Amino acid sequence: MSTANVLLASTPTPRLSGKVALVTGGADGIGESIVRLFHTHGAKICIVDVQDNLGKQVCESLNDEANVVYFHGDVTVEEDVSHAVDFTVDRFGTLDIIVNNAGISGSPSPDIREADLSEFDKVFSVNVKGVFHGMKHAARIMIPNKKGSIVSIASVASVIGGLGPHAYTGKDKCYWKWHVDYK
Ligand SMILES: NC(=O)c1ccc[n+]([C@@H]2O[C@H](COP(=O)([O-])OP(=O)(O)OC[C@H]3O[C@@H](n4cnc5c(N)ncnc54)[C@H](O)[C@@H]3O)[C@@H](O)[C@H]2O)c1
Repeated sequence: MSTANVLLASTPTPRLSGKVALVTGGADGIGESIVRLFHTHGAKICIVDVQDNLGKQVCESLNDEANVVYFHGDVTVEEDVSHAVDFTVDRFGTLDIIVNNAGISGSPSPDIREADLSEFDKVFSVNVKGVFHGMKHAARIMIPNKKGSIVSIASVASVIGGLGPHAYTGKDKCYWKWHVDYK
């Protein structure tokens, strides 16, 4: 096979052509990989994160200003998430997908008797409240459109005890309940 054909064969068929996605925590880690994968598949993407330098670097590296943008937003602040959704819609015309990916693990505290409740609040603020903000404001656009996908990144830590800090393991239980109730 010629080099050109090999390249063609290894290029995935775009599965998100023209779709508009907002990815929270898209500046680093799993979120960054989601951004890059969505971009490969033809999506227009708004990265929402608190790490401005990293977020802008991801945009620069993709070198596609028309389709990938960065918005500073803290998912624990409802106004930030609301503005991020509005910014995405203003920029790209709609919102088809939100990936509620931003999350923190919190400090390890193996002994629950020594758990710090302020740490618990911090983890829930990002991992649970932040996800709820994303769902709420994406739904504001998606329900009238009668279409859209809300993806909330969970962890196996919530079903296998002892894999993560106490507060972290609680987050996914909340997502499942919300998704079930919404249906
Ligand atoms: N890494 C793992 O092994 C693993 C396993 C299962 C699930 N997860 C989940 O995947 C998601 C991403 O994890 P990761 O390992 O890539 O983490 P990471 O720390 O590498 O990246 C998280 C991103 O979220 C951003 N972020 C943190 N708080 C934020 C806030 N308040 N507002 C906006 N952005 C914020 C960070 O700046 C960062 O860019 C998390 O929800 C995590 O619980 C991770």
